Amino acid sequence: MRCCRRIAAAGALLAALLSALAVRSSLAERRRPARSSLAGRRRPLRFASGGFKVALFADLHYGENAWTDWGPAQDAGSDRVMAAVLDAEKPDFVVYLGDLVTANNLGIPNASLYWDRAISPTRRRGIPWSTVFGNHDDMAFEWPPEWFSPAGVPPVQCPPPTSMSISDCSFRGTPRHELMTGEIIHNGLSYSSNGPKDLWPAVSNYVLQVLSQKKDDPVLLMYFLDSGGGSYPEVISSAQVQWFQSQSQFLNPNGRIPEIIFWHIPSTAYSKVAPKAKSEIRKPCVGSINKEDVAPQEAEWGMMDALAKRASVKAVFVGHNHGLDWCCPHEKLWLCFARHTGYGGYGNWPRGARVIQISEQPYSIQSWIRMENGTKHSDITLS
Ligand SMILES: *[C@@H]1O[C@H](CO)[C@@H](O)[C@H](O)[C@H]1NC(C)=O
Ligand SMILES: *[C@@H]1O[C@H](CO)[C@@H](O)[C@H](O)[C@H]1NC(C)=O
Repeated sequence: MRCCRRIAAAGALLAALLSALAVRSSLAERRRPARSSLAGRRRPLRFASGGFKVALFADLHYGENAWTDWGPAQDAGSDRVMAAVLDAEKPDFVVYLGDLVTANNLGIPNASLYWDRAISPTRRRGIPWSTVFGNHDDMAFEWPPEWFSPAGVPPVQCPPPTSMSISDCSFRGTPRHELMTGEIIHNGLSYSSNGPKDLWPAVSNYVLQVLSQKKDDPVLLMYFLDSGGGSYPEVISSAQVQWFQSQSQFLNPNGRIPEIIFWHIPSTAYSKVAPKAKSEIRKPCVGSINKEDVAPQEAEWGMMDALAKRASVKAVFVGHNHGLDWCCPHEKLWLCFARHTGYGGYGNWPRGARVIQISEQPYSIQSWIRMENGTKHSDITLS
């Protein structure tokens, strides 16, 4: 009896020690950026003589209604838009700005096939990229009501039954973490990251540094945030704000390096600076379509204040609203929409992509929109 009590006491002591260590290490992690958040395992991104050019692919919405003719046809359209933009612009980097797939409409058990199709035009051209999540990427499948009519469920791709399991046609979609892990392990050109675990359920939270052409100093920081939606509310959490503050403080303490920010769902600040819905876009805003109201995040937990406090933050880029493509000033930074790139998702406005051109010397950030048919418009200087 005595022996066992002593063992139990030793066990309790050990457990206490271990939990103290765990607290200590999680505090340390919070102070320093986790290695993985810098995607350190890839070759560093670097400016070239022409600067550093980023193309934004927003709201592709692959995989809709695959059992009809129009679903696959619109996916082929999205392939064409990306090919046209990549060949016209030859960007150094691509940002997939969320809603790559419409998971609530995918008639297959997982989203990874369509996710892979969305990134393949960029991969095929050897261009590095990264992704953030939109609200549709891990949505639960919505059974089409017409599948319950006499016509019944159309032939959809259910996995073949194995000896262990019967065929499972549950269309569970693919959770954020799994989509991201699949992308990263299969693609050496992906600079995406699962982000620090203490920010979950928000997953796509990470920073990329771009080095100077000649020296190994970072001259641009790109922050990626998960603005939620799908499996949890459409928000940027207070924990993400703290994460941003500690990352930016650590990587750029004196604000010497310009910073740009990417996430999917516009923050409420976008509604405040927006031109009146459906009116003409007037200076200082620049853009070509203003066809709907901003559909903002559900709450603001301090992200915009954190950004506005840093003079080094030049612009935020979001997707989500397919009928908006403007940039408007907000305090000392710019709030920009991308441009609806995919043929999936609502709206029939012509497709295109926002392009960002950063030059090192003299430093400038220019942006414009490149359309599927090759035309270019909405030129703006963001810094
Ligand atoms: C996803 O589903 C497709 C068919 O529906 C299957 O071929 C593929 O192996 C699945 N991938 C994963 C990662 O489960
Ligand atoms: C390209 O598309 C735009 C709409 O985005 C249209 O205004 C323009 O006339 C088209 N240009 C050509 C050359 O087809």
